[in-house]
Amino acid sequence: MARSAAEVSDRHGDATLTGISQLDFRRLIENTADGVLVVSLLGTVLYANPAAAAIFGCPVADLVHIPLGRPVISGETMEITVHRPDRAPADVEMRTVELSWDGKPALLASLRDVSAQRARQEHRRQSQKLEAIGRLAAGIVHDMNNLLAVFESGLRLLQKQLREDPANPNASMLIEELLKRTQNGGALTQQLLAFSRGQSLRPQTIDLNGRIEAMTMLLERTLGNGISINLELDPALGPVVVDANQLDVAILNLAVNAKDAMAGTGTLAIETSDTPGEIEEVPALAASFVRVTVSDTGCGMSKEIMTQVFEPFFTTKADGRGTGLGLSQVYGFIKQSGGHIRIESEVGEGTSIHLFLPRAPNTGNDPLRRQDETGLNTAPAMAHRIRRG
Ligand SMILES: Nc1ncnc2c1ncn2[C@@H]1O[C@H](COP(=O)(O)OP(=O)(O)OP(=O)(O)O)[C@@H](O)[C@H]1O
Ligand SMILES: [Mg+2]
Repeated sequence: MARSAAEVSDRHGDATLTGISQLDFRRLIENTADGVLVVSLLGTVLYANPAAAAIFGCPVADLVHIPLGRPVISGETMEITVHRPDRAPADVEMRTVELSWDGKPALLASLRDVSAQRARQEHRRQSQKLEAIGRLAAGIVHDMNNLLAVFESGLRLLQKQLREDPANPNASMLIEELLKRTQNGGALTQQLLAFSRGQSLRPQTIDLNGRIEAMTMLLERTLGNGISINLELDPALGPVVVDANQLDVAILNLAVNAKDAMAGTGTLAIETSDTPGEIEEVPALAASFVRVTVSDTGCGMSKEIMTQVFEPFFTTKADGRGTGLGLSQVYGFIKQSGGHIRIESEVGEGTSIHLFLPRAPNTGNDPLRRQDETGLNTAPAMAHRIRRG
C-alpha cells in the first residue's frame, strides 16, 4: 500500500509531496507508466504498482513479499532481465533510490521496460552490418564475374583446340571438370548478388497461394518421406508484387533448411495470411503487406545463431553440407522487394520464418479479383493438409 504523502521523503528529508492527499498520491503512483517497487534492504518487495506487475507478468499480490532475486544498490541505474511466466523475458531499466518505508530504510525502484527499444537498436545494428556486408559482396561479385568470364572463354578456346587433337583425352576431361566449376562459381555469384541487392528482379503481381501450391510436388520430393507438409493458405489472401522465380528459390531455401533442421522427420508448415500481424519495422504500414510463414518442428536455433543467419557464408553445417547462402538469398530478395522478414525460433522446438510481402496496389482484398500474370491457377485456396506416409 502507498504510504501517506507526509511519510514519503527521500534520504535527505526533502518532503517534496507535502500537501498531496494520500488518495491523490496513491492514484499518482498507481497510474504512472513506469513500474514502481518498494524493496526492503534484503531485496524483498514491500509494494508494487500495477505497471510493475505488468512488467513482471503477474498480479500485484503475487509480487509483494517475494524476494527480488538480486541485490538492489541505491543510486544505481542498471539493466535487468525479467523472466516472466508466459512471455518472452523483458529488458528492464531499473533506477533505485533510498527512502524510508514504515519507518525503516528501504529502496524505491522505478522500472522501465526497454525491450522494444533494445530490439529496435539491435535490429538497426544488424541491418547496418548486413548493408555493409552487402556492399562488400557486390564488389566481390563484380570482380568475380569478370574473372569467371575470362576463365570460361579461355577454357572454351582450349577445348576447341584440343577437340582437334584426339590424342589428348585427359586434358579434355580436366577442362570439362573446370567448366563445371565455373558454373558453380556462377551460381555462387548469383546468390551473392541476390544478397547484395544488386540482382535485377522482375517483380510481377502474383497469386501467392497458387504459387505455393504449384511448388508442393517439388517440396515433397525435396523433403523426403518422413516429413509431412502442411499448407494453410488463407482464401482471402490478396495478390502480391514480387519476382516469382526468386520467391520460389526463397521458399525452397527455407524448406531445405527446415529439412536439415528436422533430420528427416517432422512437419513443414507453410501458412499464408492476408492479415500479417504487427511488423516491427513498419508498425503503421502493416496493412500494406501479406504474410507467408514457413515453420518446422526441427532443432531450432539459439539467439546467438539467429543474429548471424542472414550473413553470407554463415553456416553451422559440416564442411560441404552448407555454403551459408540460403538465408542470405531470402533476406536480399525480401529487402529488395520492399518486404520484411522475421525469425522466431526455440531450441528443441522449431523455427518459424515470417516473410512480409508487399501487397499489389489497388486490388483490395477480394479473392475473386486475384489475377496471376504468371498464368497460375488463381482459384481461392483452401486450408488443407498434405500427408504422406
Ligand atoms: N529452419 C532452421 N532451423 C534451424 N536452424 C536453421 C534453420 N534455417 C537456418 N538455420 C541456421 O542458419 C544457418 C544459415 O542458413 P543458410 O540457409 O543461410 O545456410 P546453410 O543452410 O547453412 O547453407 P546453404 O543454404 O547455403 O546450403 C544454418 O547453417 C543453420 O544453422
Ligand atoms: Mg540453407
